[in-house]
Amino acid sequence: MNIEVIVLAAGKGTRMYSQKPKVLHELGGQPMLTHVMQAAQSLSPQNIHVVTGYQCAMIHEHYAADSNFDNINWVEQAEQLGTGHAVMQAAPHLKDDSVVLVLYADVPLVNTAHLLELAALAEEHGIAVLTLDTDQPHGLGRIIRDPAGHIVAIVEEKDASPEQRHITEINTGIMAFNTRLLKSWLTGLDTGNAQGEYYLTDTVAIATAEGNEVVALQTQDKDEVQGVNNRLQLAELERAWQLRHARTLALQGVTIMDPARLDIRGSLQVGRDVVIDVNVIFEGNNKLGNNVRIGPNVTIIASTIADGTVILAYSHLENVTIAESCTVGPFARLRPGTILNRSAKIGNFVETKKASIGEASKVNHLSYIGDAEIGDNVNVGAGTITCNYDGVNKFKTIIKSGAFIGSNTALVAPVSIGVDATVGAGSVITSDVKDQDLAVARGRQKNISCWKRPTKQLKE
Ligand code: UD1
Ligand code: CA
Repeated sequence: MNIEVIVLAAGKGTRMYSQKPKVLHELGGQPMLTHVMQAAQSLSPQNIHVVTGYQCAMIHEHYAADSNFDNINWVEQAEQLGTGHAVMQAAPHLKDDSVVLVLYADVPLVNTAHLLELAALAEEHGIAVLTLDTDQPHGLGRIIRDPAGHIVAIVEEKDASPEQRHITEINTGIMAFNTRLLKSWLTGLDTGNAQGEYYLTDTVAIATAEGNEVVALQTQDKDEVQGVNNRLQLAELERAWQLRHARTLALQGVTIMDPARLDIRGSLQVGRDVVIDVNVIFEGNNKLGNNVRIGPNVTIIASTIADGTVILAYSHLENVTIAESCTVGPFARLRPGTILNRSAKIGNFVETKKASIGEASKVNHLSYIGDAEIGDNVNVGAGTITCNYDGVNKFKTIIKSGAFIGSNTALVAPVSIGVDATVGAGSVITSDVKDQDLAVARGRQKNISCWKRPTKQLKE
């Protein structure tokens, strides 16, 4: 079967009250349109045609640099005259010997197995509709069946009679057609309806009148056909998607303390015996090794964390690479370019950026380590700051293996601390320290014996 897909994405999305087109609003960390195009791609179709209209420049710009969508045929619908009109814009691009699936860019969680079933039905019968029986049919097109149960029409709510409005079987909008037949039925559409639009759904009555049997595939899963018209529906569908993702992970062997309190906005690869506590957010593509434990209220963005590493509560990690058996947090902030080698330890209120921390080295408390290279077995005392910025340029700090940096040290870069060197607490280090040397750079302590404190003066 040769499949082609049309994705309708030209509508305005008025009820989003947004500057950007509805289909660029994100679900699970990526635009709804991306979800639908990925679903389309997974069917290995001959072509994917995406019909855009409202703010199409913004949509095209969004995907211009994304090579994953090089194979999309973008079709413009200059004026939004209805779903039938949108399909008409794509029709000249369709091959007659194919089956065409029509998807909506604002119905993001389609089930690809059902799409294939629908396409197979359309190949056999010429036309097939995905329907849902729901107690909330409000606003949707109703499926009209004759007494024998055959579908004879789809009636939009605005055009429906009071009796038709009681029908609970609705049109999800997802339809499949024999392309040659679709092209002929499209010529029969008109705008004689309550909304003055060309309805794609009118093809059903036309096909029936021509003696075709219109077949339905009825889904039981409302999320897969849930359209997004406003931000509340988007938020609710987001929760449904997240819960589904969390359940899948749990069934794959991840310990998730509460599947309802996990957000994965992107992709997550996991090893064995991973534990994820509550309120953890993953963004972008993340990878966790075996036995990784993530504490509560942690955010992890585009990072890789190797076996046995523990991330404690309230830590924020972005674009970092962490080796085996490290400990991070609680309350640590690891910024882009941070690399932790095996068994490194980053403690509370420590910020790192473009910094590589050697094996078993520790930065345990209240420090800023930026533009730095730290060797193995280094101890960085509490409150140490790499002064990497002179207000204009950034400079690098190098701390070689075995060095000990006393608490409250300011390392004014560019500066280098040698192997096994020691820096006394409270130092401001402005020049390099050689291997094994001790550097102390602070005011000397002076004691005055029997010092008399000032006494309080009496007011007149
Ligand atoms: C449509 C169906 C309705 C179904 C419902 C399911 C029709 C006439 N009605 O109604 O039976 O129950 O979806 O959600 O088909 N679009 C365009 N160009 C246009 C108009 C719409 O590309 O000129 C796109 C929209 O961006 C959207 C999709 O088509 O992705 C559906 O359009 P919308 O206006 O939301 O249709 P509904 O009135 O909801
Ligand atoms: Ca809609």
